Amino acid sequence: MPVSAPPSLPFSRWWDAHGEWVEAPNIRRGGNSGVQRLHDEAGRTLYVKRQTDHLHRSLRHPLGRPTVLREAEALRAVAALEVPVPTVAYYGARKHDGQWHAILVTEALDGFLDLDTWYRQPQAPARRAAMLHQLALALARMHHGRWQHGCLYAKHVFVRSAGAGSTIDIALLDLEKARRRLLPDMASRHDLDQLKRHRGPMPDADWADLLLHYEHARRALRRGRPVEH
Ligand SMILES: Nc1ncnc2c1ncn2[C@@H]1O[C@H](COP(=O)(O)OP(=O)(O)O)[C@@H](O)[C@H]1O
Ligand SMILES: [Mg+2]
Repeated sequence: MPVSAPPSLPFSRWWDAHGEWVEAPNIRRGGNSGVQRLHDEAGRTLYVKRQTDHLHRSLRHPLGRPTVLREAEALRAVAALEVPVPTVAYYGARKHDGQWHAILVTEALDGFLDLDTWYRQPQAPARRAAMLHQLALALARMHHGRWQHGCLYAKHVFVRSAGAGSTIDIALLDLEKARRRLLPDMASRHDLDQLKRHRGPMPDADWADLLLHYEHARRALRRGRPVEH
């Protein structure tokens, strides 16, 4: 039984479309998962996560459920909190000869670099400050909405610097482990501990600034005040 969003292409056409591997298939969760990049007829670049028997089990799904279905739901929920994430072009799962096949297609984040790569390039202080501010805002909104990213590594934070000024866009990637927590502080503690350990080349001074911006944004959200961009 197929489970999917309104299709732009039917499941089997996505499943059969192959591009270059960005993440070669890994054996995980008793199945496998890989990511390929391809281009559609309209010239868009797309990332296709393709999984076989890659399941998570829960009380509601004791036999297991394809993880991309949960990831697609998380992408929608987090986007609704105004946290920038890639746009989902298609997702779906179906059982084939007793195995789950599942795909999640997202539009490429155009002009973005992951945080590791971004920090390895020279960045003006104003631009660094703007990046830390935007990242703090995105994290505060997600946590205020009780969503925990669950895999907050520098490689899953994407940054785009537009033009010569300090305009910065942030996007969060790979919501495969994202889940709703009972309290914002639970989500916050988990993600900030994780990012602290996996922030790559971000210097200690920038980490401290990020926390200041983050606390400020969380306080404003708790008081129901608009948080400036
Ligand atoms: N929409 C996207 N735009 C840009 N890069 C992407 C996009 N989706 C995936 N990627 C790249 O592919 C890598 C693997 O995707 P990810 O969602 O992290 O899959 P996995 O679960 O295999 O880690 C990411 O770290 C990122 O570099
Ligand atoms: Mg990943």
